[in-house]
Amino acid sequence: MSISIGIHDLSFATGEFVLPHTALADYNGTEIGKYHVGIGQQSMSIPAADEDIVTLAATAAAPIIARHGSDRIRTVVFATESSIDQAKSAGVYVHSLLGLPSATRVVELKQACYGATAALQFAIGLVRRDPAQQVLVIASDVSKYELDSPGEATQGAAAVAMLVSLDPALVRIEDPSGLFTADVMDFWRPNYLNTALVDGHESINAYLQAVEGTWKDYTEQGGRALEEFAAFCYHQPFTKMAYKAHTHLLNYNGQDTDKDAIAQAIGLTTAYNRVMGNSYTASVYLALASLLDQADDLTGKPIGFLSYGSGSVAEFFAGTVVAGYRDRLRTEANQEAIARRRPVDYAGYRDLHERSFPTDGGDYATEEQTTGPFRLSGISGHKRIYQAR
Ligand code: HMG
Repeated sequence: MSISIGIHDLSFATGEFVLPHTALADYNGTEIGKYHVGIGQQSMSIPAADEDIVTLAATAAAPIIARHGSDRIRTVVFATESSIDQAKSAGVYVHSLLGLPSATRVVELKQACYGATAALQFAIGLVRRDPAQQVLVIASDVSKYELDSPGEATQGAAAVAMLVSLDPALVRIEDPSGLFTADVMDFWRPNYLNTALVDGHESINAYLQAVEGTWKDYTEQGGRALEEFAAFCYHQPFTKMAYKAHTHLLNYNGQDTDKDAIAQAIGLTTAYNRVMGNSYTASVYLALASLLDQADDLTGKPIGFLSYGSGSVAEFFAGTVVAGYRDRLRTEANQEAIARRRPVDYAGYRDLHERSFPTDGGDYATEEQTTGPFRLSGISGHKRIYQAR
């Protein structure tokens, strides 16, 4: 019998501020239906001047360490595509902020929004090798497109932390996986840019091709039949994308695309992403949190996961929800992370969007804005300085 490994705990954090899409629409004259219905977004999280992927990640992971301790964690894998350093893993800062043991390996992983799924799969491999160990997987990103570009409506920020272990309390991750890689330039960010470049419509096509490709491989590898899944968690750059993807999957399988059935399969996965926006690597796992927090009992039911990262790499895999999972959920804290955000007006958002540290090598202090437990207090001697508050 194969051993059970998967997600033992999941916690997330998001930015200090929230920009409603009504504010963006008022500014650029867009009919609000395009945002609320056309792309399925209500608002987006905006990090404070003293927040970044490290502070979000530490905030997401701290409750996991508080609940489980760190004795069994020997690996931290930090997935991001908004990296803050070309050499040092952002995970090392988190390791320090959380006081994790020195006998830990810490590494950063990148492949656009797919990175966290690679981290999860690598973590499962490590736990399989030594089932006594746990792996802390962190997905943390700040999504930024150029101001006044079509991508602007699909920004956001969040971090998800997951503890991967033997006999998980939430979701057992199954074999096989369906895999897909294609060299496409649908979305990328050269080292000299703070914002991503994207061919928006091409990126949607590339995502749909990846849905097909992963499903084909998943089936060939002996995966479950489509009808077996109780729900599907898709990567959600905007929530309408999950609807497009699922419709495409049904079409590809020659199945009916009944609106109610599609809503039943993915509706509950979209609530958090709809109000936080694109959180890149974290997005598909926020979909899981949203599903688990809202659905009627899912015990024993398989969930399909479709993780897509531009460029592109994608994976389809299944997870089965574990008996007793509801006692381990963090529903109240999750809802609080969203509700506690402070509204920012359009001018305030624009100001935050355009901020970055000067590149002259000087020392700079960051304005104190976040009310979260960790902050980026500034830069000194080319080093980022973080503080627990
Ligand atoms: P756009 O050109 O501004 O919007 O770009 P549009 O004209 O395509 O309209 C969007 C939808 O709104 C359309 O619906 C319109 O009909 C509808 P669709 O035809 O798609 O079903 N619409 C309305 N609906 C109701 N009332 C109205 C109304 N007006 C129009 N009044 C786009 C939209 C998403 C392309 C843009 O925001 C963008 O470029 N975003 C960034 C790229 C992106 O998110 N791509 C998704 C796939 S790639 C991916 O997921 C990876 C990624 O996360 C990165 C990574 O992996 O790291 C991005």
